[in-house]
Parts: sequence; C-alpha cells; structure tokens
Amino acid sequence: MGHPATQRLEKHAWFDEARFGLFVHFGLYSVAARHEWVMTRERTKIEDYEKYAQVFEPDLFDAPAIARLAKEAGMGYAVLTTKHHDGFCMWDTSLTDYSSFHHQGRDFVQEWVDALRAEGLRIGLYHSLLDWHHPDFTLDFHHPRRDDKDAREQDKGKDFGRYRQYLSGQVRELLTRYGQIDYVFFDFSYPWEVDGWMGKGEQDWGSRDLERMCRELQPNILINDRLDIPGDLVTPEQYQPSEPMKVDGQQVRWEACQTLNGTWGYHRDNLNFQSTESLVKLLADTVSKDGNLLLNIGPDGRGAIPERDHETITQIGKWMAKHDASIRGAHAATGFTAPPGTVLTQRGNRLYVHLLTWPFAHLHLPNLAGRVQFARFLNDGSEIFMTQFDPDVEALTTEPGGQPAGTLTLSIPAQAPPGPLPVIELLLNTTDQ
Ligand code: GLC
Repeated sequence: MGHPATQRLEKHAWFDEARFGLFVHFGLYSVAARHEWVMTRERTKIEDYEKYAQVFEPDLFDAPAIARLAKEAGMGYAVLTTKHHDGFCMWDTSLTDYSSFHHQGRDFVQEWVDALRAEGLRIGLYHSLLDWHHPDFTLDFHHPRRDDKDAREQDKGKDFGRYRQYLSGQVRELLTRYGQIDYVFFDFSYPWEVDGWMGKGEQDWGSRDLERMCRELQPNILINDRLDIPGDLVTPEQYQPSEPMKVDGQQVRWEACQTLNGTWGYHRDNLNFQSTESLVKLLADTVSKDGNLLLNIGPDGRGAIPERDHETITQIGKWMAKHDASIRGAHAATGFTAPPGTVLTQRGNRLYVHLLTWPFAHLHLPNLAGRVQFARFLNDGSEIFMTQFDPDVEALTTEPGGQPAGTLTLSIPAQAPPGPLPVIELLLNTTDQ
C-alpha cells in the first residue's frame, strides 16, 4: 500500500471527475470583514472577540442560493467552514455554547447539506484543528495571546487531551448527524518551533485516531492531508503547481484551493481580485495537470454572497456552460505536446486545446497529423480546417511551411469566440486514444 493519494479508488472517482468545487468561508470573522485570521492578527482577547457572536445577524445567508450558484458554475462539490480557527461553531453542537445554533438559532451545516443534496452536489466540510477559543487549547506561535506579558504562564492548568477529545467529539457529531458527508477538509498542522513556541501536529490532534474514526463513520469519505499524516489528496494553497503533483516520485491526487482576492473570509476593503479570465485559465491549467480547483467565496457579515464574488462565479459558469466537456471528467493529455500558449486536457478520444493566447492564423499541433478526424470550437461546434504542410517545403512568401513532420495545422480565424478562454475540440481517430 503506497501513499493514499496515489490510489484511484472507485469510491473517490466522483472527486477526480468533478474537477471543480466551491469553498465557502463563513463565520464570525465575516462580521469583522478584515480577514479570517483577524482574531490573531489583532491579538483580540477571547471575551472581546465573543462580542461578534452577539452581533452576528446572518439574515441573508442562503444555502440554496449558494448551492445553485455552484451548480450553475459547473462545480461538482462544495466545502463549508464548520469551525474556523476562532473556534465559533456553525452547527448545533452539544459540546459548546459557542455556536451559531446557540446564538443565532441556525444550524448552518444542516442548511448546507440540505441545499447541496437538493442540487445533487457532493458535500464537503472544512474543520479547523486550531481553536483559539477553547480553554484547553495551548498557546503557540499562531495563537492570539502569544505576545501577552504572561503568555508563558497562560497554559498552566490546561489539559490539551481534553481539547483533543472535544475535537474528536465534534468531528463525530459532524459525521453522524447529517447523513453522507463526502469530503472532510481538516486545517491545519504546523509541527515545528517558532520563537520558542512549539507548533502542533499528529500527536496533538490524535490524527491517526481521528482518521480511523472518520473512515469508520463515513467509509467513502475523502480526507485531506492537513492532519500531519498522508491524506487522500494533497492541498496546495494559493499557488499553482507547475506540473502534476508528486510525492516520492509518484503522481498524487491534488486539489489547489484558491481565493478570489487573497483572503478566505469576507474582507470588505481588499479589492485585490483576480479576473474571471485568469481564474478560467487557472481551472483549465489545473485539469491539464490532473488536479482539482477549489475556488473560494466569502459571504459577508449578513451572510450574503458579495456581489463581486457572485459576478465572478457566474461568469465562470457562463464559460463552463459551453466548455465543461473539457473540464468535467477530463484529465491531463499525457503523451501529447501542447503548442506554446495552450494547455491540453483529454476525455476519451477527445483532446481539448485551451488557447491561453489567440494564435495568428495557424495553430501547429505536433505529432497529430493523421490522428484527428475532426476539429471544432467547443463553444459553437464550428468546424476548423485542418492541413498538413509538406515538411520538406520551407516557408516562403505566401506559402507557410517548415513544420516538422507529423504536424497538424489548424486554420484559426481572426476573431476569437466570445468569452475568457477559447477551446478547440479534436476528435481523435478511435484507433488512437
Ligand atoms: C489556511 C488558513 C485559512 C484558510 C485555509 C484554506 O491554512 O489558515 O485561513 O481557511 O487554509 O485552505
């Protein structure tokens, strides 16, 4: 048995096929509206931060609307924060009063699973391993109290084992009270020392036991890799791998999680947004490297999807409506060479050429001569002429040429089809897949 992320088990096939999911960061920090780490960034005392629980009025949180948005964007699954590092719980937990059920009378996890199920989406739950609110959670270099004068004394009397039990008890609630959960995204481990503070990892979380329990309660579940033990997938965050990801030289299942503007929770004044175009290109690039993209939105202090986030996801959805064939169920086109300015994906005998830049008049595809039955744009199904230049004739005046033997050349119109990323579909000869 190798690394779990190298395995392609049937029960996880839905994830590899979906390719595209929605991440939703929602919690008390959405009210502060200045980063989901606001509590520790501003060294906020627990009792001061708790005030957000009193004023949190998420009257516009609408799980069905979020589920619809994800569905219309062509996503196959979505992941909600059940608890972030601030410790506030977004469901009806029996283990603390610090919850949306106690304060707001809302069980957001219930709303979430109901909405996702209604849309036929797979259900993901994010759960923070860190908890800056729990009385037994010891200080470390991420903790809001780390700079207090008496910081080093504050852990006296704490029993981290009790926190471990709380963590496991809450995960048990999440995996037993809401029916089938498909994916759990634990976050995160930092088992090293900084400024004399020891971080936390496998031993602290009791990761092996936690994992065993998850698999017992939900045999088909997919578990990420942030428990400080190998998971079913690796989760690069806010960067794009330059090739399919590997562990010990073996290709692994991976999912990049990405934000729209650099923060996960709603951040009113951060307008550092990515364009739709760059996100659509990112999605295609991800699939061309056999990965998934988990794209985040941060509902605001009232729970509404910010207009900017809504618009971006909707625009991506518009592209997906015409191009999902090159994304869903597609994978890296191994053995084919992508011409400059393109990324390739493949699904069965169809090869998809994503044109990151618009070619001038011709697109030369290495080693594809005689291997393609038909070429067309994916958005409107319109035919693209194919030719093969004589490799022995050099390009001269009005005669293009000089392509290596085996090159298939497509005639590209002056105008690109509308939308952020044109895609060409090549139907390979069925003998050549
Ligand atoms: C992190 C962060 C965080 C965010 C997340 C998403 O490591 O702590 O705020 O929730 O990962 O992947």
